[in-house]
Amino acid sequence: MSTLKVMIGRDEIRSKTKELAARISEDYKDKDLLMVCVLKGGFMFMADLAREMTIDVNLDFISCSSYGSATVSSGVVRILKDIDYDITGKHILIVEDLIDTGLTLKYLKDLFAAKGCASVKVCTILDKPSRRRVVMEPDYEGIIIPDAFVVGYGLDYAEKYRNLPDVCIVCDD
Ligand code: IMP
Ligand code: MG
Repeated sequence: MSTLKVMIGRDEIRSKTKELAARISEDYKDKDLLMVCVLKGGFMFMADLAREMTIDVNLDFISCSSYGSATVSSGVVRILKDIDYDITGKHILIVEDLIDTGLTLKYLKDLFAAKGCASVKVCTILDKPSRRRVVMEPDYEGIIIPDAFVVGYGLDYAEKYRNLPDVCIVCDD
């Protein structure tokens, strides 16, 4: 059996999301913004962030996996589903659930930059800066969490718990 302990509750997530959406809406009010969600983990944050935006935006989705075990990133990123848009001249905001080692985002930022977008920035709802293996500062940072494996609000453990509305720690009994 395992039990779940709430680490970050839905109310805190909601208020941080509103704050981030207000800042992003202001910063991009005169720009063509394409928000790119990193699937699957980013789906819930993307949905909440997008509906708090007060400017017109385009939405797209990318899916990638890093080789390695379930809980440790290897640094080798594989694209499983690419974005649909031609991003030439577009301002990209990558929307992530959590930055851990930073390897996935470093790869994606370099990929979009190489495809000729006007700019590429990063927004994450959760951040574990103590786990970084490469330099990766989110432009819009949500909530900093300690080095623990978390689930819920899009995040999974072996594809379970993504639908939980709070960010939780799994405790084995
Ligand atoms: P990174 O490349 O190591 O920064 O992390 C890539 C992705 O791994 C994150 O965006 C999450 O989707 C996933 N991940 C990292 N830490 C956790 C965790 O504690 N729980 C669930 N997924 C995680
Ligand atoms: Mg992710």
